[in-house]
Amino acid sequence: MNVPIQWPKAVNEIPKAIFTDAALFEREIETIFHGAQWHPLAHRAEIPNPGDFKTMLLGRMPVIVANGEDGKIRVFFNSCTHRGNQVETASCGNRKAFECPYHRWMFRTTGELAGCPGTEEFSPGFDKKNYGLRELRTAEFCGLIFATASAATPALETWIGGLAKTLAGSLGGDGRLKLLGYQKVRYASNWKAYSDNDGYHAPLLHVGFRLLGWQGGQGSQTPTPNGHLGFESQLKPVVNRDFLKDPTLIDLKATDPESGSRIAQLFPHTVITKHMDVINVRFATPISVDCTEVHYAYFSHVDDSEELMRHRIRQSSNLLGPCGMVSMEDASIFNRIHIGSFTPGNAEFQKGVKRTDEVWFDVKQNDESGNLPKWDYYSRLMGFQRSEAT
Ligand code: FES
Ligand SMILES: [Fe+2]
Repeated sequence: MNVPIQWPKAVNEIPKAIFTDAALFEREIETIFHGAQWHPLAHRAEIPNPGDFKTMLLGRMPVIVANGEDGKIRVFFNSCTHRGNQVETASCGNRKAFECPYHRWMFRTTGELAGCPGTEEFSPGFDKKNYGLRELRTAEFCGLIFATASAATPALETWIGGLAKTLAGSLGGDGRLKLLGYQKVRYASNWKAYSDNDGYHAPLLHVGFRLLGWQGGQGSQTPTPNGHLGFESQLKPVVNRDFLKDPTLIDLKATDPESGSRIAQLFPHTVITKHMDVINVRFATPISVDCTEVHYAYFSHVDDSEELMRHRIRQSSNLLGPCGMVSMEDASIFNRIHIGSFTPGNAEFQKGVKRTDEVWFDVKQNDESGNLPKWDYYSRLMGFQRSEAT
């Protein structure tokens, strides 16, 4: 039998076993992903027209995010109200109605049950109006659509808390976006390793940053008590560009260098970035203890010129695309954390650690200690007790 996980006393340590423990993963699905948290599932720019939809997983629960024929965006459980069949299998598209193929029950894009064959022989008192697709609680911030399966989740504004300004900044300021496209990735890593990227690694792992001097600007890092983390930093424009054949990689066409980089990491594992001219939302899904699926959605601003939009596509591909300068390096690290975490003991945070007996919120731009409030929040949420031993 597995030894129960002991949470260390020092706040700058986490047990490596939390990345590989399959039973803990199942508990996280119930407590975090099906529990009292908001989860971003779509940006309204992905489904701008009536009938547009996308399907997602909220933890294990399949959901449909649908722009209804009345123009309202709703989130439904993707499960037929008859016998529970998954209704929609496409990842996105446009429908006049959602039809369950098993017995042909038909649902409007607003969720109501429009028709079902053979009602004259249904149980006494059957009424179609009680059989619409089940709707989840939703809320919206700068066009980002959040859902929660729990009635206990606080209001979205409260949940976002001190991250509101960074989040709005990372969504183009006002959230008036246009979808450019997606790339979908499965990382061979636990979701917590994927979401534990820190302020320390950027100029060290991402050699391209150093080469181009991108990380030279002043910046700040803001953790919140409920596990979010925001980064804001300047970007120094690159002076010597001659060594690049295509300097558009480093052009800032729409971005003031003063506000070059905005990153909002929302608990548990959604990342929204506005880095250089790239606007990107990473919708993540925990597939299993050792697999995390991430949908990178790229956006331009609705006011962009055609030229600026094309520039954003090129820069998005070069920076975060499958062969981009940043993605491959991070992907490798997520996997190597997973492999290394099968060994005993704790992982330690050092950069910016001022004390080890309690967490604090005043962290510098390149401190890895900005991740500690999140780990403290996670450990309490999951019911771990800090061990008394030092
Ligand atoms: S399960 Fe959907 S129509 Fe029967
Ligand atoms: Fe990184």
